[in-house]
Amino acid sequence: MKTDRILVTGGTGYIGSHTVVELQQAGYPVVIIDNLSNSNIEVLDGIERITGIRTDFVEADCTDFDALSKLFQQYPDIKGIINFAASKAVGESIEKPTLYYRNNLNTLINLLDLMPQNEVKGIVFSSSCTVYGEPDMNPVTEAAPIKTATSPYGNTKQICEEIIHDFVRSGAPIKSVILRYFNPVGAHPSAEIGELPNGVPQNLVPYLTQTAIGIRKELSVFGDDYDTPDGSCIRDFINVVDLAKAHVIAVERMLQDKSLDKVETFNLGTGIGLSVKELIAAFERATGVKVPHKIVGRRAGDIEKVWAEPKHANEVLGWKASISIDDTMRSAWAWQCRLRDRDVK
Ligand code: UD1
Repeated sequence: MKTDRILVTGGTGYIGSHTVVELQQAGYPVVIIDNLSNSNIEVLDGIERITGIRTDFVEADCTDFDALSKLFQQYPDIKGIINFAASKAVGESIEKPTLYYRNNLNTLINLLDLMPQNEVKGIVFSSSCTVYGEPDMNPVTEAAPIKTATSPYGNTKQICEEIIHDFVRSGAPIKSVILRYFNPVGAHPSAEIGELPNGVPQNLVPYLTQTAIGIRKELSVFGDDYDTPDGSCIRDFINVVDLAKAHVIAVERMLQDKSLDKVETFNLGTGIGLSVKELIAAFERATGVKVPHKIVGRRAGDIEKVWAEPKHANEVLGWKASISIDDTMRSAWAWQCRLRDRDVK
C-alpha cells in the first residue's frame, strides 16, 4: 500500500468510480467526497466487490468550504486530488446556468484554496473536448484553438482551466494535469460498476443500451445530413477503464515530480472517429442484439465531427487507449443487463 492518499471528488459517479478502482488496484489509499446528487452509495459495494477494499467515503458537497476543510484535517495524508465533482448535462446547464457556475467553479476554487495549506501537491481536472467546439480540423491536438462555449456547462470547463492556470501563475505551490475527455463510454468488465443516468439518458450509449433492453422504444439518431461519410455525427468513443487508467498516471507524475510543466494538458481519446451509425452497428455486431432506431432531426448545439489526436498523452504519459470498441460495447451491454437483474431502471 502506498502512503500518499488520493482525494477523489465525485468518486461515486461514472468516471470517478472507475478511477477509484484503478487507484486502489495500483495501491493508493483513497477517500471519496460526493454529495450523491447524481450517484448512488451502492457504487461503493461495486468498487469493493472488484477491489476487495471498502473506500473511505465522506458525504458532503465540495462547494461547502468548511466541510472540505474538515476533510483535509481528517485525512492529513491526502497528497493528490482528482476532481470529478461537477454537473455535466449540457441541456440542463442552459436552463440552470447559475447552478452550473456555482457547482463547477466553487468546487474547484475551494479545492485549490485548500491545497497549499494542506500540502497537497497536485490536482487532476476533468475537462472536455467541448472546449474545442466545432474544430477547424480533425484529429484535434491540444494546441487547437479554444472556441466560444455553446453552453454554460462547456463554459465552466473553459473557465476552470483558466482558473487553474491563473492560480499556478500566482505562485501557488501546486501542480495540475488537465485531462480533456472525448466521449467516455462502456463499463468495468466485471459489470460491477457502470454509468447510471438519472431519468431519461441524454447521452448516446446509455440511451442505446436502454433501448436494446426494452426500457426505451427506439433510439433517435439526431441527424443524418451532416458533412460526414454516412451523414451522422462523428465522435471519439473512449472506454471508461482506459480513461480511468490515465488518471492514475496523471496523479502519479505530479506526486513523483515528473511533470514537465506546472500545468499540463492532455487529450484523452482513441484517435479514431466513429459515426453514430457506426457505433450502433458496432453494438449490434459485438452483442448480437438489435437496436431499434430511426433518423430524426439534428439536436441543437451538436458538434458535427470531433476526434482526438492522442499522441501527446501517448508519448508523455505513456498511456494509450487499448480496449476495442467491440469489447467496450459488450461491457456497456453487460452492465445494462446487470442493472436489469438488479431491477434498477
Ligand atoms: C457532449 C459534449 C461533452 C459532454 C457531454 C455531456 C461535445 C463535443 N461533447 O457530448 O463534452 O461531456 O456532452 O453530456 O460537445 N445522439 C443521438 N441520439 C441520442 C443521443 C445522442 O443520435 O439519443 C448523438 C448526438 O447527436 C451526438 C452523439 O450521439 O452526435 C454523441 O452524443 P452524446 O453522447 O450526448 O455526447 P456529446 O454530445 O458528444
